[in-house]
Amino acid sequence: MLVAKSLSELERRFPDSMIYEQESCYFVFTKTGVIRFLKPRSKEEVVKRLKEGRFPRKYITAIMKEKERTEALKAVLSVKKGVFLSGKAGVGKTFACILKIAFLLRNYKVNLPLYVPLQNLGDVFEYKKLIWLYDSFLLDDLNPNLGEWERKLVVETIYHAYNEDKLLFITSNANFRVIAHFLKEEPLISRLLEMCEVRTVTGEDLRLTKSPQ
Ligand SMILES: Nc1ncnc2c1ncn2[C@@H]1O[C@H](COP(=O)(O)OP(=O)(O)OP(=O)(O)O)[C@@H](O)[C@H]1O
Ligand SMILES: [Mg+2]
Repeated sequence: MLVAKSLSELERRFPDSMIYEQESCYFVFTKTGVIRFLKPRSKEEVVKRLKEGRFPRKYITAIMKEKERTEALKAVLSVKKGVFLSGKAGVGKTFACILKIAFLLRNYKVNLPLYVPLQNLGDVFEYKKLIWLYDSFLLDDLNPNLGEWERKLVVETIYHAYNEDKLLFITSNANFRVIAHFLKEEPLISRLLEMCEVRTVTGEDLRLTKSPQ
């Protein structure tokens, strides 16, 4: 899917072509044919989709404000596929993954992301059904303290994402080896490594350093 940020971007790229602007897209009339470029999704549409995917309101608000170039953010933004992001509490892992998902939504790389709060799931069985309805996932706080039902949901989601070619983001306070040991299934780890780049980030606990708002 082709996306163009602005009319001037297209005018620069196609100086000799006529460009016709519509509400949600541009048509570029080149010598060889017509090319359609979508405009990026609006901020409102991105927020709506994040809310529909159960992303926490607190983070949706936070990512729309001023951002710090944290190590977590740099790591996630530089990766082209999914990410397994580990690091201490408060270094900005969840924030970074949600911001990345918002960018991907904006550019139509994902359409229906789902937030899976592993430490606070409520009904595990509901999530087992939900994974079929969404096209990308953030498994937040995959730590070795999870119960067996949550561990199984993680296993199922990873196999599902692999088989259906869905994008996967995972945050954890533990390093990848600890999680691989916790998940116990070798074929799963191999799939996970194919889908996600493993990054470990350091930094200060932003919850402690941030001034109260
Ligand atoms: N790049 C950033 N710019 C501005 N604020 C940020 C940034 N990253 C994180 N924050 C804020 O810092 C706080 C901690 O971030 P976050 O919850 O993402 O940390 P975490 O690494 O996921 O922690 P935990 O391991 O406890 O889940 C949050 O209030 C978040 O909104
Ligand atoms: Mg987090």
